[in-house]
Amino acid sequence: MTDRYSVIGRPISHTKSPLIHGLFAEVTEQDITYGAIEGSLEGFTDQVLTFATEGGRGMNITAPFKLQAFELADLRSERATLARACNALKFEQGKIYAENFDGIGLLRDIQHNLQVPLVGRKVLLLGAGGAVRGALLPFLEAGPQCLVIANRDLDKAHALAAEVNDARVQVCAYPALQGQVFDVVINATSASLSSELPPIAEGLFQQALLAYELAYGKGLTPFLRLAQEAGVAHLADGVGMLVEQAAEAFEWWRGVRPETRPVIDRLTVPLV
Ligand code: ATR
Repeated sequence: MTDRYSVIGRPISHTKSPLIHGLFAEVTEQDITYGAIEGSLEGFTDQVLTFATEGGRGMNITAPFKLQAFELADLRSERATLARACNALKFEQGKIYAENFDGIGLLRDIQHNLQVPLVGRKVLLLGAGGAVRGALLPFLEAGPQCLVIANRDLDKAHALAAEVNDARVQVCAYPALQGQVFDVVINATSASLSSELPPIAEGLFQQALLAYELAYGKGLTPFLRLAQEAGVAHLADGVGMLVEQAAEAFEWWRGVRPETRPVIDRLTVPLV
C-alpha cells in the first residue's frame, strides 16, 4: 500500500519538499506519495490529527507551525526539545513523534558537502531564533572551539545560552563583534528575507573559511555579498541544508537514506 506524507505550512505554495521527497522516493524505490497542505492558523491541530487518522505516516512542518507541532506531539527528541520546535512528525501506533532535523541538516551540509569540519573552529551564529535553537546541540557535538551567538535582542541570546549551559556557547552584542574574527559565519537571522544585512562589517570575515546563509534560492544576499567582497573562499546558501534535513526525515520515516548530491545540484540557484 502506498504510504502518505505531506508538508504543512502557511504559505506553502513555495515549498520544495514534495519535489525533494518525490526524487528520494524514486531513487530508493519507496512506495509513497508526498503532498503539500496549506495550514490554517486556527485549525492546524485538526489538520494534523485528520491527516494521521486517515492513515498518513508523517509530516514535515514549516513556518509558522513548528512550535505548535512540537506541543502537539506525544514524544519528542532531545534536539526538538532544545529547539522547542519540530520540523518532522511521525505517526506510529497511535502516537505522534516529534523531531527537529534542521540543525543536523545544516551541520551535515557544512561538514560533509562543503567539507568544512567544525572541530576546533570559532563559529559565529547570527540570530537567536528557531534556526539557531535547532543548530546548537548538533553543532556542539561537532567539537567547535566556541559558538558565539550575536543577536539584536541580547536577552533572547542569553536565555538560549543558559538553556544549553555549555562554556563554549557565548553571547555577543553586534557592536562588540568589531575586531573579532571567526572561521565560520552563519547568517541564521531572517534579515535576508527582506534583503537586509544584519549589523556586521566586512572585517568580521577576515579569517573566515565559510560564510553560510540559511535562506536559499535568493542568490547573493547582502550577507553573502559582504562575505564575497571580504574574499571568503566558500559561500553557501541553505539549499544543502534543506535537502539534508529532508534526507534525515526520509530515513527516519522509511529506514533508507537517499543520496542528496543529485537533488542539491538540481535545486541549486547560482550565487550571483
Ligand atoms: P527563525 O525561526 O527562522 O530562526 P525567528 O525565530 O523569527 O526565525 O528569528 C529571527 C531572527 O532573525 C531573530 O534572531 C531576529 O533578531 P531579534 O531576536 O533581535 O529580533 C533576527 N533578525 C531579523 N531581522 C534582522 C535584521 N534585520 N538584523 C539582524 N537580525 C535580524
